[in-house]
Amino acid sequence: MNKIIEKISAMGVVPVVAIENSADAVGLGDALMNGGLPCAEITFRTAAAASAIRTLCNSHPGILVGAGTILTTSDAEKAVDAGASFVVTPGFDSDLVEWCLAQSIPVIPGVMTPTDINSAINRKLNVLKFFPAEAAGGIKTLKAISGPYGSIKFVPTGGITISNLEEYLSLPNVVACGGSWLVNKDQISRGEFDKIESLVREAVQLIDRIRGK
Ligand code: 3PG
Repeated sequence: MNKIIEKISAMGVVPVVAIENSADAVGLGDALMNGGLPCAEITFRTAAAASAIRTLCNSHPGILVGAGTILTTSDAEKAVDAGASFVVTPGFDSDLVEWCLAQSIPVIPGVMTPTDINSAINRKLNVLKFFPAEAAGGIKTLKAISGPYGSIKFVPTGGITISNLEEYLSLPNVVACGGSWLVNKDQISRGEFDKIESLVREAVQLIDRIRGK
């Protein structure tokens, strides 16, 4: 497993963030650090995504910053240029994956079907985002695909919250989960970083308990 993916596995959860104002990335970084989860996937769902990545990387070099909702190679280029250490995509796009591999940028492509998983295996990728996890059958689907795809690990995302996190993380083919419940867009814009910190801390405590730390 690649070093960055190893770090993501060690965290157990990746906060999926949509940020409207890049200056808010500093408060977000403080909340993540104080809460004990130095990791964020900044999604390209807002115009501020690339500048938020740059701001967060500069203000908090200890945070593992990735880019999410990457739909095109051009967005991947912008994300990496801004400092993103890894790329997450909702669906499997061969060109985009090839670009990341050529640049040696860790990529976690989204998959939902066995066909998608096969495309990833053909690129020698073995850690994949299972998206949209809950809508695509959640735990039941992950258990079913563990048979034919025993060597593949997943980062389920989509519908994961503090309520079902334990169930997902207990599956042997799940290395971490992604989720937006930790960092609410409105809480960021209202500057409610203490609330974000509490949600992050709650998740970290749960993960530590699940993993016997
Ligand atoms: C993503 O961008 O990965 C998902 O939309 C996150 O899904 P969630 O909002 O249900 O956590």
